[in-house]
Amino acid sequence: MQEFDLVIRGGQIVSSSGISQADIGIRDGRIVAMGSLESSSGKASVDVTGCHIFPGAIDTQVHFREPGLEHKEDISTGTHAAICGGVTTIFEMPNTQPTTTSQEALADKLARSTARAYCDFAYFVGAASTNLEHLAEFEMLPGSPGIKMFAGSSTGDLLVEGEGDQRKVMQNGTRPMSIHSEDEARLRHLKESLGENLHVRQHPDVRDAEAARLCTERMIRLCEETGRPIHILHISTKEELPLLADAKKRGLPVTCEVTPHHLTLNSDQYETLGTLIQMNPPVRSEDHRLALWNAVKEGLFDVFGSDHAPHTLEEKAKPYPNSPSGMPGVQTLFPVMLDWSLKGELPLTQLVKMLMERPAELFGIAGKGHIQVGYDADLVVVDLERKWTVTNEAMKSKCGWTPYAGRELKGAIEHVFLRGEQVVQGGISLERPIGQPVKFTWK
Ligand code: DOR
Repeated sequence: MQEFDLVIRGGQIVSSSGISQADIGIRDGRIVAMGSLESSSGKASVDVTGCHIFPGAIDTQVHFREPGLEHKEDISTGTHAAICGGVTTIFEMPNTQPTTTSQEALADKLARSTARAYCDFAYFVGAASTNLEHLAEFEMLPGSPGIKMFAGSSTGDLLVEGEGDQRKVMQNGTRPMSIHSEDEARLRHLKESLGENLHVRQHPDVRDAEAARLCTERMIRLCEETGRPIHILHISTKEELPLLADAKKRGLPVTCEVTPHHLTLNSDQYETLGTLIQMNPPVRSEDHRLALWNAVKEGLFDVFGSDHAPHTLEEKAKPYPNSPSGMPGVQTLFPVMLDWSLKGELPLTQLVKMLMERPAELFGIAGKGHIQVGYDADLVVVDLERKWTVTNEAMKSKCGWTPYAGRELKGAIEHVFLRGEQVVQGGISLERPIGQPVKFTWK
């Protein structure tokens, strides 16, 4: 009797509690059995002996540019990049054109994703001064992980400025809210005082550490006042770390993200990579990078997110400050962090916690984040020994480049399965856009 649609045999399963060998039996897209499974029990089987199997990575911060800016990226190319990098679930940001600030705009993104998305997806609704009263209702809409608030302006014109409105946003809803945390008044002041004739190496002064610290301090205060869970994105400064540690120690519902960019790049690279590594908040000096790594090791950060923010090379070639901020990263998120892990900076168990398990838990994703019976069979099979070199050509993002081009990484993605369907085989995409909206357990 054939019990399973597919059996994946002989892999080492990685979870936050350890690594152990098990076959995985899959039926109707879900994991239905694990252990030592009989050789005749599957209609199909894949032998992955010698490889490690991770749950599909969950990237809770990407910008895919559709609708409105499809010359840089669209839902199809962005999710294709994701799946080729072992990311089986993405949450996409609302700073598209038009912005995702209404029920209609969310429905439009979900409709555009049908038969075009290569991984599972959900779309943030952006907080704006025009939709404050509707946020509690919007955050519960199917297909959305909740609300994103730009407390400081970045790419696009989404912004909730001023403590009064920011408090109102926090009061309107209960789900963890994702926040871009840089103080708008300070950003404006710095921009005016530093003038226009600048080099990109000054980007960390134009958006300085104090702007991030000030805003993060205020967000924590508003969280304490309102009780609203907050999730602070792309932490970039050593000054924010004690604030976050203290908030967590006091039991406030504060969580936070760090990106591979801020852990891998530093301000010396403005000399070689120039505006390519211009992003908001900026890549900063080595002391910030090392402090962020310390905080990773101390367990301060909840998740890794890519902040995948593609811009074309032509746009990036504009002289600073007219060059746009942001760099691609969804396809390199898992490989870059895996490489750090295999270099000894991060246990594999913590990598799984921060890239798969915790994002699912934090955002209340149903059926993802773990390789366990009852969960979606979102699986990434990796050869931890194989080294490979990142190239621009291998990137599926429409922008066609990566700040990591030329880097040799250890740990290569062999196969990816999305809800039990193989979508990457031997490192090559099978070109199957079978992504579905993410389901949430949130009540
Ligand atoms: O550098 C950035 N680019 N930071 C953001 O917050 C937005 C992003 C983008 O959309 O380009």
